[in-house]
Amino acid sequence: MSVFNKEWWVTRVPVDYEKVIGVIRDLVIKEPIPVHMKRWYYAMGATPLILFLLQVTTGLLLTFYYVPSPEMAYESVRHISQDVPLGYWVRGLHYWGANLMIIAVFLHMIRVFFTRAYRKPRELNWILGTMLLGATLTMGFTGYSLTYNQLSYWATTVGTNLVDQVPLIGHWLLTFMRGGETVSANTLTRFFVFHELFVPAILFILIALHIFMIHLHGVAELEGHEGEGYYPFYPDHFLKGVYVTLFLLTVMSSLAVLLPPALGQPANPAQTPLHIKPEWYFYAVYGLLKWVPIKVGVTLIMAGLIVMVFWPFIDDWFRAKWPKAPIGYAIGGAVATLTLVLTVVELLAK
Ligand code: HEM
Repeated sequence: MSVFNKEWWVTRVPVDYEKVIGVIRDLVIKEPIPVHMKRWYYAMGATPLILFLLQVTTGLLLTFYYVPSPEMAYESVRHISQDVPLGYWVRGLHYWGANLMIIAVFLHMIRVFFTRAYRKPRELNWILGTMLLGATLTMGFTGYSLTYNQLSYWATTVGTNLVDQVPLIGHWLLTFMRGGETVSANTLTRFFVFHELFVPAILFILIALHIFMIHLHGVAELEGHEGEGYYPFYPDHFLKGVYVTLFLLTVMSSLAVLLPPALGQPANPAQTPLHIKPEWYFYAVYGLLKWVPIKVGVTLIMAGLIVMVFWPFIDDWFRAKWPKAPIGYAIGGAVATLTLVLTVVELLAK
């Protein structure tokens, strides 16, 4: 009997194939997708998912050559960028993929917020989403530090210093992240493990839970477009995913070739550069901390994070008190505008 024969498999892996295919058919292929999801901004949930899978692929390829030691890290990144065949391309895909993933997660969150899709019964999935945002930003922060150039080294030092200001657990968190009091070889090892294993595993579990919850609830109705009907996941919605993937790959590949990520100068722990700046997605936080004393800034950020995580319940409270007032839109609009302004101001500042 050949391995191409179904019986060969049934004898060795005795499961009910009809049942398995039936489950896949019902859970994936026939999954009803509401018609309002044909709008382009509803693709912002699938986009970070696709980018996560692409990041895992390019990240694994980079690991073939990356060496997580203070002596070798910068040199191994230089080697990838300049000597390894197509190394610059894979590094560029990973770098731009990370930036696009962060943009996509923010856009997805904005779409969920402004379509008020976090309301009952989806509050817990919003909370899972805020964890996904945290994990995605942690991937960006830890990944940046691995390059081990002057800017990334000092951004890591300043970034972890900030953690020290967190009330109660700050110092414990700082030594946990750094693997000691100062940024050392231990820090690089830890950041490597966080970036390669720990945080991706958490992201994977969170994404699985997030999608499971979406399956339980179905996608929320869009206000004013209720009852427009459904279409099956396959082939239309699946094909949309294929188009998004091809589009992302084209954009990432073009950026990797036209605007390759910088190499910078090797990290020098003895020489603090004049300007230390984090990556653009922390500019809003960085800008805020320039204007207010550090303790006030960290407390404000912590308060903002708590409001973000529990927003669905806070929104319920506002609605019970003032049913007609669009308080959510006002607060969301103000926070989004302030974040955008602070980010653009830092982008333009030399
Ligand atoms: C890696 C990050 C994330 C991935 C891969 C992801 C993926 C998805 C997908 C595929 C959907 C289905 C609907 C759609 O495509 O728009 C969805 C819905 C949802 N997401 Fe996310 N998401 C992420 C982050 C977030 C964040 C940061 C939030 C909010 C804080 C969030 C909150 C929600 C909620 C509440 C829904 C249900 C929306 C509805 O039913 O209309 N997600 N997510």
